[in-house]
This record gives sequence, structure tokens and C-alpha cells, in this order.
Amino acid sequence: MPDQDASRQIVIASNRGPISFVRDEDDGELVPTRGSGGLVTALTGALQASGGLWIASAMTDEDREQAGRGRLAVSLDDASYDVRYLAFDEEEYDGFYNGISNTILWFLHHYLWDLPRTPRFDEGAERAWAAYVRVNEAFAGALHEEGRGSSDQTAYLVQDYHLSLVPAMLRERQPDARIAHFSHIPFAGPSYFHILPSEMRQQVLAGLLGADVVGFHAERWAENFLLACRTLPGARVDLRRRRVRWKGRQVAVRVYPISIDVETLEHDAREADVGRLRRELIGKLDGRKLLLRVDRAELSKNILRGFQAFGIFLQRYPNWQGKVSFLAQLNPSREDVPGYGEYIEDCVAAADGINERFGTADWQPVEVMLKDDFPHTLAAYRLYDVLLVNPVFDGMNLVAKEGPVLNRNDGVLVLSENAGAFFELGDNAVVVNPFDLVATAEAIRIGLEMDPAERSRRAKALRRAVRRNRLARWVQAQLRDLDRATSRG
Ligand code: G6P
Repeated sequence: MPDQDASRQIVIASNRGPISFVRDEDDGELVPTRGSGGLVTALTGALQASGGLWIASAMTDEDREQAGRGRLAVSLDDASYDVRYLAFDEEEYDGFYNGISNTILWFLHHYLWDLPRTPRFDEGAERAWAAYVRVNEAFAGALHEEGRGSSDQTAYLVQDYHLSLVPAMLRERQPDARIAHFSHIPFAGPSYFHILPSEMRQQVLAGLLGADVVGFHAERWAENFLLACRTLPGARVDLRRRRVRWKGRQVAVRVYPISIDVETLEHDAREADVGRLRRELIGKLDGRKLLLRVDRAELSKNILRGFQAFGIFLQRYPNWQGKVSFLAQLNPSREDVPGYGEYIEDCVAAADGINERFGTADWQPVEVMLKDDFPHTLAAYRLYDVLLVNPVFDGMNLVAKEGPVLNRNDGVLVLSENAGAFFELGDNAVVVNPFDLVATAEAIRIGLEMDPAERSRRAKALRRAVRRNRLARWVQAQLRDLDRATSRG
């Protein structure tokens, strides 16, 4: 990756680390395996160039075993860098991860609450918040310890809502530290943000404002953050220049839309098992069109309304019955969070309902695959006619980028206007309001019936838009802005 100053140390902090340790069955040794996804690629590229360190929570027994060994050198694929895992008491970690990060902050920023009933900030939430504060403190302490020796040279890159208090806690310990925080999820609008009790609200904002640069994937989330900061006593917000004056410092609020690792994705899609699965899928489709969705089995992805819209589509346009199959590939996720199990049951019941109502002896309208099967996802990406990406709200949504890059069928992207990806891809997608079932049903029809020349034009434009935004740029731009903001680079 390049192009950044190799003498500057980078220290990254995130809840989920770039690797996980698994026990080798033959010799019982713990060996590192690489986490998936573009974020790991982007950040390990930067780490590799700077010989830096990644600090993360120990999430498995094997990670916890490694945590005791402090800073570890890892050489994996073509990257070498250090990792340090922080181990927490089980109850404390549960309060931090499930209690606050996944149940409060995730729901807040994705607008997921059923407001007449939830949230309820009771004593359990109070205890979970205390755990969240302590885990954030532990991260800030570890970052300070690891970066201290070269404080002027170290760039701290703190990731996501799990660690929103870390920038201020680190600033307290190290007033001249260079800190960037990046949120990979949306930021709630000002009214919704006020659902948080004022103490938490202020701590989250002041926590993030401890950074020099606060980053988001899309303009809309950056704006929401600035609007929320206007309610923070003592903060002076300049909306036009997107900065906040806070405790005598200027904090820059910036937009860095993340991309995907196109080369690795294409390489993976050329593997033999993907080709085999693709041929199997073609056989199964038997000439029918493919409507595809690929998601974590997650409330914010709006899976249920996707099925309901497909039901409306089949009812309105009976000529399509028997001619299209909807494949929903859902990767199990966060099964410990209350409400997720029931939601997925509701989704499966909706799919079953459509199959009962419209299915025939030789046509099953919807197939739900509830498992993590990456080769199968890649095979389905190659083939879809329409890719449905209709999240309620989504920081970016990388499926909307992966699909168009791999598709070989001039497939149409149906995209929620509330996904961060909308700002880069909306012009060439069929855009929907994710709550509007009739509009979503219409968008499915428009996608399936689009004339070939238009399909091809849009598919090409989508591919170009994704490829134009190189993944390496995401971290380089943050480091550059960090240098500018601290005027020491
Ligand atoms: C999604 C979000 C990330 C978040 C991650 C956490 O990918 O876009 O912002 O960090 O979920 O997932 P986890 O499985 O670690 O809870």
C-alpha cells in the first residue's frame, strides 16, 4: 500500500481484531487466522508500511490465552505487524459489547427501536454503561502505553462506536496525541440522538471530540454528528467548514467513504469451488431470473420488508410468477442480542408464507440460506439479475459494491437511499425508500424488466464508480488530514 511516512508509527484500536487465534489440531499450537473484509486489508496495509500495532478485544478463549502474552508479532499472508489483545472479565465485556455497543449504540444510530417499548434506561443499562466506560478506559490506557515512546510520531486510529469514549480518554493522558476516530455506522439525526439520556449523550459527543479528526462514510452522518454537537454545552460548531471548537482545540469532521479490495475479491471469485457453485446455481435457476440479497442476519438490513415487497411484486405482476427466484443469503450474526432470534424467525416465516402462497411443484419463489458461505455468495454475485440492498439505515454497505464488481450479467442494483453507498452509487441504481414496500416491489420489477442497453450502461457505471475509489485512499486520506489538523506533519 503505500505512500505514507514509514517513520510514523500507527496504532489502531478496534473491538474486533484483524486476526483470531485458532488451535492447530496437530500440534495444539495457537495459530493466527486473518479476519475477512476490506477494513482489515486497508488497515493492515497501513500498519505494514509503518511497523505498527493493532489493539483489540480478546473475543474467544484462544484470543484470551494470547492476551496474557502482551504485544505479539504477526506475519500473515504478506503483512507483518504487531497485535495486542485486551482480555476482560466476561460480565464486563458483555455489558460493553452486548449491553451498550450492540443494544444501545447500534440501535440508536440505525434507528431500530420500537419507541413505545424500547429503549428503557434502567439499572441494567446503568451497569452496562459503567462496563462500557471501563473497557474504553482500558483501551485508552493500552494505547497510551504503546504509543507513548514516540508520541509525536504516533497516529492513533480508533475504530467505531464500541470505542467512542477512547479519544477523550487518550487525550486526557496525552494532550498532544494525534487521534483520528472513524465510525463505520451511521450517526443518528439530532432528535433521535436525544433518546440517549443526557449524561451518555454528552459523554459520547465529548468522547469523540477528543479526536483531531472525526470520520464517517457519508456526508449525511457527518452532518448529523455536527448537529448533535450543537447541543453540547461549550462546543462551537462551524457547519460550513465542518469543524467543532472544543476545549481550546479544533476538531475536523470529515467524510471518507470506504471501498472494497477489488483485486482480492476477484481473485477469490476465480477459485474452483466458486465456479462449481455457480454452475450448480445456474442449473437450479433453470432459466429463471435471480433476485439476490446478501446480508448479515441483522435488523438494520430490512430483510423482512424485502420479503414483503417481493410478495407484493408477485401478486401485482403474476406474469413473473414462476420466472424469478429470490435467493436470500443471510450470515448469522449477534445471536445473543435480544430481538435478533425473533426477527430472523419472522423473516423465515415471511419467506415460507410467500412459498406457500405462490410456489408450485417446480418453483420455490424464495430460498433463505441461513449460513456463512462466502464461495456461494461469490457465485451468486456473478449471476444475479437484480441485487436488493434495502437497509433501514447503513453506514456504507459493502454488498452494494461487491456485487456490481463481480456480476457478469449486467445486474441491476436496487439500493436504499439510507445506505452510505447511495452517495457514490445512487445515480446508477434503482433507488428506494426502504420503508416503502410498494416502491420496493416496483423497483424489483423495474430491475427485472430494464432493457439490456440500459442495464449494461448502469452496470458499467457502477463498476467504474467502485473501482475509482481505491481502498488504500481511505486510510491515506485520514492520515493526511490528521497531519493537517495537528499541523505537525
Ligand atoms: C458491521 C459494521 C461495523 C461493526 C461490525 C461489528 O460490520 O459495519 O461498523 O464494527 O459490524 O460487528 P461484530 O460482529 O464485531 O459485532
